[in-house]
Amino acid sequence: PAALRELLLSRIADVPDHPQPGVMFKDITPLLDDPAAFGALTEAFTDLCGRYRVDKVVGLEARGFILAAPVALRAGVGFVPVRKAGKLPRETLRQAYELEYGTAEIEIHADALAPGERVLVIDDVLATGGTADASLQLIRRAGAEVAGVAVLLELGFLAGRERLEPGLKGAPLEALITV
Ligand code: PRP
Ligand code: MG
Repeated sequence: PAALRELLLSRIADVPDHPQPGVMFKDITPLLDDPAAFGALTEAFTDLCGRYRVDKVVGLEARGFILAAPVALRAGVGFVPVRKAGKLPRETLRQAYELEYGTAEIEIHADALAPGERVLVIDDVLATGGTADASLQLIRRAGAEVAGVAVLLELGFLAGRERLEPGLKGAPLEALITV
């Protein structure tokens, strides 16, 4: 609702020209440093776990980890990391995706999700949607179901929602704030 959105928005700092000229970086560290705001965010995401009957929460490295872990604990479900390629120690599934310049790869442990499990993906920002889309492919390849994607902030002008749409296959994409 509007009050939650205002609280969260007030704790996200706009940093012009970071990491490169022309980019407005959305810095969530003030939000993480404010227990009222971080707690309200955690509650909002935890509500989604109930509503979507979620069995597992997947967090996307690195900022997604910070937001997703307390949600999984509050919801009483497991937390599963999706990491940048080369970090997870056991057998993995790997997924490549397109960036603005070049490609990137992310991984999940091959045995992290069981067939039929309902998974909520959590990240801080939806920009072009490439990272989130690749995570949905990993979840499906692991045999699990996508219950939804939840982000703190959606950058509407980058059309990530459109890119994600086919991969969602009707699952909800929840953004607490859209700019
Ligand atoms: C940022 C952000 C999202 C992703 C969104 O992560 O935290 O995960 O980019 O971009 P996309 O929608 O265009 O894929 P980044 O890879 O910069 O690093 P971090 O989370 O490890 O800080
Ligand atoms: Mg990230």
